[in-house]
Amino acid sequence: MANTILVGAQWGDEGKGKIIDVLTEEADIVVRTQGGNNAGHTVLIGGQKYVLHLIPSGILRPGKKCVIGNGVVLDPIGLVEEMDGLKKLGVKIADNFFISETAHVVLPYHRLLDAQREVRKGRNKIGTTKRGIGPCYGDKAARVGLRMIDLIKPDRFADLLAARVRENNAVLKALGAKPISFRKTLAEYQAAGRRLRPFVTNTVVLLNEATNQGRHILFEGAQGTFLDIDHGTYPYVTSSNTTAGGACTGSGVPPHRIDRVFGVMKAYTTRVGEGPLPTENAEIADLLHGMGREFGATTGRPRRCGWFDAVATRHAAMVNGIDDLAITNIDGLDTLENIRVCIAYRHGGRRYDHVPNDVEVLSECEPVYADFPGWRTSTSGVREWKKLPARARSYLKAISELTGARLTIASVGPGREQTMFL
Ligand code: GDP
Ligand code: IMO
Ligand code: MG
Repeated sequence: MANTILVGAQWGDEGKGKIIDVLTEEADIVVRTQGGNNAGHTVLIGGQKYVLHLIPSGILRPGKKCVIGNGVVLDPIGLVEEMDGLKKLGVKIADNFFISETAHVVLPYHRLLDAQREVRKGRNKIGTTKRGIGPCYGDKAARVGLRMIDLIKPDRFADLLAARVRENNAVLKALGAKPISFRKTLAEYQAAGRRLRPFVTNTVVLLNEATNQGRHILFEGAQGTFLDIDHGTYPYVTSSNTTAGGACTGSGVPPHRIDRVFGVMKAYTTRVGEGPLPTENAEIADLLHGMGREFGATTGRPRRCGWFDAVATRHAAMVNGIDDLAITNIDGLDTLENIRVCIAYRHGGRRYDHVPNDVEVLSECEPVYADFPGWRTSTSGVREWKKLPARARSYLKAISELTGARLTIASVGPGREQTMFL
């Protein structure tokens, strides 16, 4: 396996965790490069479900190294909880796990400010995961953030935290929110810092030495293309670069070391949180929710659902330079008689073949649909591409051609074994 960046080609929750788990078999190192514990990546192995938030999904394969890169915003309390949860399930986290010294630390005031801003936005809220992601990246850009290298030095951390708590408590008070306790925060974070210290290292050097030695790196994207701070449906986005470029800045591995970009997309569309979703459709949402699927892996919120949007995925292929596609959740469409695919948007008499940047325009866009006949038979037991119903194959070929990338993986269930390579 070459050095591969894996990204979500839609609005997140495309099934990246499952595909990462499959691709990790061929990789040596799996690295998260952006986002934080707003992510929820689900992997199902032999009936056991794992939900990863900060730890790369590669941790579930023995013998692989996992790295939290410099571009991630890391909640140490959340990470310790996640490590403990995985250990209880028998997952080894020891000399196979590394955390960047320069990853920024999510603090309680970030979470509180995230929640406060959402309340104050009222009906214009973003629908964040309230994990403090936006305020933490805000502090990073404002150059007032605390990093892992600070957290693992107890005295330095205490000094820096004192100053930050003073300033943020003044802001919280002005917003009518309860200030946080410096002493309690310090104690909790220093304890987490002691737990995490053995894993904290210079991951930029580690990753570059590994590629120099011919090791294969898999970059595990979080969120999706349309949640990207630059390329998404701003302001209804997350606060990091979720697109392929973010993997380089978020790891310190240079672009010429990247061999391919893998895009993951569902056979339909989902979004959790607010913001435009041109192909949103209540019937599909009812169908999928009725099957007990499409509830958020991090917040449990029901995901909004719609038809496959090829305008969006074509845009994602362009922005990320997607070479290969994995299409997941094909089985979600098994019962439908007719399947729609959005091939263009219409707005005010104009046709759009790309995603307009103005979210007001995008939210008013009417999809132009092409219709495909459904296959109306269960696909979840199929293990070979050729054994998929012909109509399913035609549909999948059509959406990958419309997207403009090669179809490489087809997924018909959450399990490892429910995966076909083309
Ligand atoms: P991620 O954030 O991109 O890793 O995706 P999530 O884990 O948040 O959401 C994807 C959901 O779809 C999870 O519940 C997966 O177990 C599930 N999943 C992934 N691929 C398939 C598939 O092909 N079929 C079905 N039925 N479920 C799938
Ligand atoms: P994975 O990696 C889906 C969404 C939130 C909200 C917006 C901003 O599992 O695909 P944030 O808390 O990041 O400030 O919220 O982004 N969001 C996700 N949606 N999957 C995710 O991650 C997401 N991470 C954030 O719902 O709309
Ligand atoms: Mg998810």
